[in-house]
Amino acid sequence: MTTKEEIIKKSPYKPKLVEVIDYHRETNDTFTIKLGWKLKHEPGQFVFCSLPGIGEAPISICSHSDNYVELNIREVGNMTRFLSKIKKGDKLLVRGPYGRAYPMDKFKSHNMIIIGGGSGVAPLKGSVEYISNNRGDFGEVSLFFGFRTPEDVLFRKRLDVWKDEFSMYINFDRVEGKTIYGGKQGFVTERVKEVVGDNKDAIVFICGPPIMIEKVAEILIDKGFDEKQIYISAERLMYCGIGKCGRCMIHGKYTCLDGAVFRYDELKDYKDD
Ligand SMILES: Cc1cc2nc3c(=O)[nH]c(=O)nc-3n(C[C@H](O)[C@H](O)[C@H](O)COP(=O)(O)OP(=O)(O)OC[C@H]3O[C@@H](n4cnc5c(N)ncnc54)[C@H](O)[C@@H]3O)c2cc1C
Ligand code: FES
Repeated sequence: MTTKEEIIKKSPYKPKLVEVIDYHRETNDTFTIKLGWKLKHEPGQFVFCSLPGIGEAPISICSHSDNYVELNIREVGNMTRFLSKIKKGDKLLVRGPYGRAYPMDKFKSHNMIIIGGGSGVAPLKGSVEYISNNRGDFGEVSLFFGFRTPEDVLFRKRLDVWKDEFSMYINFDRVEGKTIYGGKQGFVTERVKEVVGDNKDAIVFICGPPIMIEKVAEILIDKGFDEKQIYISAERLMYCGIGKCGRCMIHGKYTCLDGAVFRYDELKDYKDD
């Protein structure tokens, strides 16, 4: 007979206890934690964080390092609010990594266009760090980030570096007073329309609210981009992360296994809600 200990030992859901080595408040409702977790992972993957008695949440890895994992979390409900109380030195239960990563090897020597809206900037941060760590492998890199207001800007220390390393375009839905990073008022979609040319070579990553993803993809396709040049991130409610519960299905695809990164043509007939 299999004992409870043996079942737990074999379980794919078994989490690992890791230390929180840094905690940084980004905005009113978001924070970034750095975990002392030497985890082999690729840009675009995610992990699950759990708090016993509270719940479990899938969170994208927003860094690219063999020595640590960073997670940027928005407080939206019970689990994420409890997570926000965590402190440097605390331990957190985690499992992963999960999901299909961006096939970064395929993009060598291509120009890269990275477009993020709001908390959608966080999952893209890991891929921009990857590009920065392997700068010689890529052509021109353009970053387009949209935030509600200058107070909602994430990762200011990184943006300070990236504004000199890449072409960076920031947009704000509203600017009252002084803008930052030369950010313009208006949706990021408008900036993409204004700045991006007919770039047949570029690979595009888009992450953000579904409506933003849809509009940006439409603009790019109108400009002559092929659907196969565009990669999007799809967020779905998830329980297991390993293709067992079926909670994350989109048109016969498991977001947890086949995504959360998809090439645009793989989901093109699907309209998000
Ligand atoms: C692959 C993946 C990667 C993610 N990466 C991040 C990340 O990097 N940072 C981050 O802050 N959040 C991320 N999320 C969302 C995060 O998992 C949820 O916000 C979290 O589980 C909510 O838990 P809660 O108990 O705090 O809120 P709940 O009380 O469960 O939900 C609060 C509100 O958020 C909505 N919500 C919950 N989960 C999701 C979801 N998966 N997609 C869309 N809406 C949801 C609910 O419908 C509800 O309106 C990711 C989700 C997925 C599937
Ligand atoms: S989250 Fe369970 S099948 Fe994808």
